[in-house]
Amino acid sequence: MDRREFVILGLGTMAGMLTGCSSLVATPVTPVAGKVRLTVRNFPALSRPRGALKILPQGQETPLYVLAEDDGGYAVLSPICTHLGCTVDVDGATLLCPCHGSTYDRRGRVLRGPAERPLRRYPSHLSDGVLEIDLREAA
Ligand code: FES
Repeated sequence: MDRREFVILGLGTMAGMLTGCSSLVATPVTPVAGKVRLTVRNFPALSRPRGALKILPQGQETPLYVLAEDDGGYAVLSPICTHLGCTVDVDGATLLCPCHGSTYDRRGRVLRGPAERPLRRYPSHLSDGVLEIDLREAA
């Protein structure tokens, strides 16, 4: 790789990282005893098919994606790509990493590498219109 290719690759990677960070604005939330509780009706994105919400729990540096699933449930995923740590973007049915092209499904499973491991997933439970997310037990 010559110097010009290196610079172009570096600029492309930086642009991808910036794009990944800006696709959704994070909503600050306050955890209680390690859990976040979201009243779904207060977040219209969670009621839409393939809706996505980005939350930033107080005290954490990294936001999370809350994704509406086709079966009415939700997946709560870390946006950090398991390849080299870039931020993935939600793109309809998939999550795409702008850095090297890894692709995940909305449950965090790898559809295309180079990533080999799924995105970290946080347990969540929906009851009476309230989605409870446990921040302590990501898998
Ligand atoms: S950091 Fe995501 S594919 Fe490399």
